[in-house]
Amino acid sequence: MTARGGESARDAGMTAADGAGFRGALRHMFRVALERLAADGVVPIAAEELPSLVEQVRETADPKFGDYSGTMAMALAKRAGLKPRDMAAEIIRRLDVGDAFEPPTEPVGPGFINLRVRQDALERAVAAAVRDPRMGVAPVADPDTIVIDFGGPNVAKPMHVGHIRSTVIGDALARILRFRGHHTITDDHLGDWGTQFGMILWGWKHCRDDARFAADPTGELGRLYRLVRKVADAAPEELARDPQAAELAARHPQAGREVLAETAKLHEGDPENRSLWERFMPLCLAEIDRLFARLQVSFDHALGESFYQPMLAGVVAELMADPAVPARESRGAIGVFLGGDDAPPFLIRKADGAFLYATTDLATLQWRMEHWQPDRILYVVDSRQGPHFEQLFATARLWGCGDRRRIADVELVHVAFGTVLGEDGKPFKTRAGDTVGLESLLDEGVERAARIQHAGDPDPAAGAEVRAGLDAAEQRRVAEIVGIGAIKYADLCQNRTTDYVFSFDKMLQLTGNTAAYMQYAVARVEGIFSRAGIDREALRRSAGSVSLATPQERALGLELVRFGEALEDVETDYRPNVLTAWLYDLAGRYSTFYDALPVLKAEGEVRASRLALCDLTGRVLRQGLELLGIGTVDKM
Ligand code: ARG
Repeated sequence: MTARGGESARDAGMTAADGAGFRGALRHMFRVALERLAADGVVPIAAEELPSLVEQVRETADPKFGDYSGTMAMALAKRAGLKPRDMAAEIIRRLDVGDAFEPPTEPVGPGFINLRVRQDALERAVAAAVRDPRMGVAPVADPDTIVIDFGGPNVAKPMHVGHIRSTVIGDALARILRFRGHHTITDDHLGDWGTQFGMILWGWKHCRDDARFAADPTGELGRLYRLVRKVADAAPEELARDPQAAELAARHPQAGREVLAETAKLHEGDPENRSLWERFMPLCLAEIDRLFARLQVSFDHALGESFYQPMLAGVVAELMADPAVPARESRGAIGVFLGGDDAPPFLIRKADGAFLYATTDLATLQWRMEHWQPDRILYVVDSRQGPHFEQLFATARLWGCGDRRRIADVELVHVAFGTVLGEDGKPFKTRAGDTVGLESLLDEGVERAARIQHAGDPDPAAGAEVRAGLDAAEQRRVAEIVGIGAIKYADLCQNRTTDYVFSFDKMLQLTGNTAAYMQYAVARVEGIFSRAGIDREALRRSAGSVSLATPQERALGLELVRFGEALEDVETDYRPNVLTAWLYDLAGRYSTFYDALPVLKAEGEVRASRLALCDLTGRVLRQGLELLGIGTVDKM
């Protein structure tokens, strides 16, 4: 939320009720107070500092300290040579909290400024969220055009567990940013032109199995890829475990070089390799589409590496001709020498004339700038590619990608993620040492989810009610949603930059921060309404007011109107785990509320108000999971 100067705090208070969120409104009020503080000469504050200072207004962990707390007095006190409490008092004196908050009390501890939302304002905001199809989340005032580059599997290489991270994180970010009102463009930067094709071409020519290809084309291409990869560059120990590969390697000692030559021939337009590529591509793409469909992930565009091939020579020529870009030849190759002569250059053409991943990424950036005019481009890619993206962004800024002035304002972000580990703490592999195929992983997740459904659940009483009446086909559908949801959620709830251990046992637990627990929470809320035969639409329409008289109701209501804040915080650092953590918290507050207070057995307005809280909780949980790309079920 961008605050405009000069607006009165009263306007901002109204904004809170209108759905901009209490925190957004409060940050705006603090901004006004800090501007006054600087104007009064208490402490110098530069305009650029204001956003990071007002971001120090955050929700408190403990209601004892109010609902929100501002901590900027500490840093400012130091600068002004005041005691933190005195600085906090100076801020409080200038803080006009309108009618959405209780007047601030004395600063607490070393200068915390604690604020509590007024009960009537909170009740109004919750009621407004109940009536609102967007559940009280206002779209951003100033939407950006955001390109999200994710997925990007290498065609013809079987997809494996590693691809899940880019796909799942990228898809969740796209959904969240879109829901926030940004103009999002998703693009699957397929690796459809690289050395893996050389492997398949070589394999096709030396060891294909026509019968297998006829029966299962992509299965056969996958087999060729795995086999040739070993023949061309496996370590001797790995070769020793695969007699067929070892035998081929003995017969073709130059296989590695020949594979590269096949790739080079494809790139040079060799008719045979080109026509094989054209024959394999649709098969590989259909396979990838099928997997993405199963993951419920779709893209606006899938402009793979091959799409940019005609542009690469031009890109290299432009870079060479541009005096602002330190591109030059070195031993036959061409590189951009960003760090002077000693640092490794960003290689854009090899000595044999081949272009690289880097060249394609530069062409891609130029094409996106020209056709989409983005404000931001997010690359959701393994953190091991960090150096590549640093060099890519630095080169792009020097070169301009067709518009040097505009690229300065484009935010280029490598949304990096860590590795998926096996339970032994090493990168996740099968027992034979191969990477785990994505397809078999999804199958196993679904199969285990089906077994759990049969085995019962932790709350038999509630379980009977949510599971009643599922026939076999519905059970399979539920298992698919629960199994795949578990795999996605387990990935999304991690801090994306750290490695995580893949464990079916943990991710399918029905308690704790798992998809199944969250899906179960949704099913329980649904159960209340279906059991009592309540018309939820009518309930929403008549939600003129909501009462938050007990601490449990207040805690739940306050959390519910923070949905937009959680989504805003995801965007700040592109971390979907902020949303999973928040949803888990919300589910906890709901349990506390539901266990402590009668809902269906309550009467009159209290019953209606509590049902409205249940309804909103169910919708927010469902919407939250949907924004993570995770399905929900009415019964499980
Ligand atoms: N195909 C690449 C890989 O598997 C990922 C592509 C990421 N996007 C990009 N613009 N470089 O490593």
